[in-house]
Amino acid sequence: MATTDAPTRPTLRDSFPVDNPVQALLRDHDMVRKLAEKYENTHSADVKKQAATQLIQAIHMHSRLEEGVFYPGVRRVDPNLIARFEEDHLAVDDLLATLQGMSMDDARAEPLVREMLDAVLSHIRQEEEQLFPELRQAKLDLTSIGLEMQAFEANLVHLQAQLSDRAARP
Ligand SMILES: [Fe+2]
Ligand SMILES: [Fe+2]
Repeated sequence: MATTDAPTRPTLRDSFPVDNPVQALLRDHDMVRKLAEKYENTHSADVKKQAATQLIQAIHMHSRLEEGVFYPGVRRVDPNLIARFEEDHLAVDDLLATLQGMSMDDARAEPLVREMLDAVLSHIRQEEEQLFPELRQAKLDLTSIGLEMQAFEANLVHLQAQLSDRAARP
């Protein structure tokens, strides 16, 4: 079993729902919840470390996608909808940056992962209970945002794959 701190190699999702980009975000949220459960429920230190590394990667990719395209796209349509969600992201980004520069063997990692998970799980619940329903109600056409997100994610995955290949090279 791979249990090192080496970054996991990100892969492109099978298909990006360009006409309903919120669906892609919901899938990411589900993945984060599953990894968080794995992190919380395992008794194996190795599985925990692996889940933490995967969580950091998944949250990083999801945050880049929202901050880079989805939020700015929604802000163009309605600036009031996302201000407080962007504030949540700033706090999580700080924790992410600290964790990305740290080994998961470091004793300080576990409380930081828990702090990040608390913030992220409550944030994604609020996106699902408040932001996404508001967008649905506003009946906005999100296709142009979806197309931008698809291209942005493809670039991001390509870049991350290059970085992890470089990191894996002896
Ligand atoms: Fe978010
Ligand atoms: Fe999200």
